[in-house]
Amino acid sequence: MALTYGTTPSRFATGLSKTSQSQEKPMTLTERLAIVRQAGQMSSSSDKSEHEFSFKSVDFDRVRRLIYAKAGISLSTSKQDMVYSRLSRRLRATGKKTFSDYLDILENSKETPEWEQFVNALTTNLTSFFREPHHFPILADHLRKIAPLRHQINIWCCAASTGEEPYSIAMTVADTFMNKAAPPVSIFCSDLDTEVLRTAEKGVYTPDRTEKIPPEQLKRYFSKGIGKQEGSFCVRAELRRMMTFQRLNLLDPLWLVKGPLDVIFCRNVMIYFDKATQYKILTRFMPLMQPDGLLFAGHSESFLYASDLFQSLGKTVYQPARQSGSA
Ligand SMILES: C[S@@+](CC[C@H](N)C(=O)[O-])C[C@H]1O[C@@H](n2cnc3c(N)ncnc32)[C@H](O)[C@@H]1O
Repeated sequence: MALTYGTTPSRFATGLSKTSQSQEKPMTLTERLAIVRQAGQMSSSSDKSEHEFSFKSVDFDRVRRLIYAKAGISLSTSKQDMVYSRLSRRLRATGKKTFSDYLDILENSKETPEWEQFVNALTTNLTSFFREPHHFPILADHLRKIAPLRHQINIWCCAASTGEEPYSIAMTVADTFMNKAAPPVSIFCSDLDTEVLRTAEKGVYTPDRTEKIPPEQLKRYFSKGIGKQEGSFCVRAELRRMMTFQRLNLLDPLWLVKGPLDVIFCRNVMIYFDKATQYKILTRFMPLMQPDGLLFAGHSESFLYASDLFQSLGKTVYQPARQSGSA
């Protein structure tokens, strides 16, 4: 059966419910449901002519299998529209006329560069400076606590996206070590998506992206762009010199990450993985960390089910669980 693009029952129903507002009597729930059902039946016969490529449920299932195996990303059925629109671009770019032909490129070769494009197309990279801001004072306190005990502090930001998160970490580090020209801190920034990582490495942001940076930090840690970057803000060397960027798939069997790690930021990425995948990743994080290290998770992520590996400190911050026999 072909999936329905542009006229899914829910969108159709939204349109109708607007109309219903102008009627004298509001529609009953049963009437609304009948219209939604009708919309669902109508849309499957009308979609072929409206869409450039046919996208059958067998194609969508294939996409789901491939991205799950490659990146651990579990795509729910509600992502059909998104997948169609993002991968249609790849069909056009590769000159393929059907999803089936496009997906054959991937299935026929593990080495094809199209894998990178496919993965980049399907990741969700939403981020912002100082997102979930309550984590940054916790980070600053932790840095103050461990600074006298370490020659070198290692932080890993493992889903760095376009860089707003690792630069927020770097600003927090620089503020905390205000009296040191070069804080003894290294921030390893990685992401699966090579395109967002390139943006992160550039460190150039338009004003709409820098809105959440307090003015004094913006002034201190960014310079005003010139030439092609006129109007944008460019991250200063003071932050950059602490940071390295590298593509890393959390599903890969080998991670080139230098430990022991004092802090891992793993926010808003585990949400795309199923529990089994999350647990495997947590199992690998644990031995990489200092016993008093901190793991920061996203607001809708909970690792309470993995209490053998990490104990919750509240506010979606975790610490490696004490192993039996340890002090
Ligand atoms: C929603 S963004 C979150 C960005 C940032 N951590 C934050 O909280 O603002 C999720 C990021 O996870 C990355 N990602 C998805 N699957 C991944 C994987 N298997 N390995 C590494 N990164 C992955 C995506 O490319 C994307 O940039």
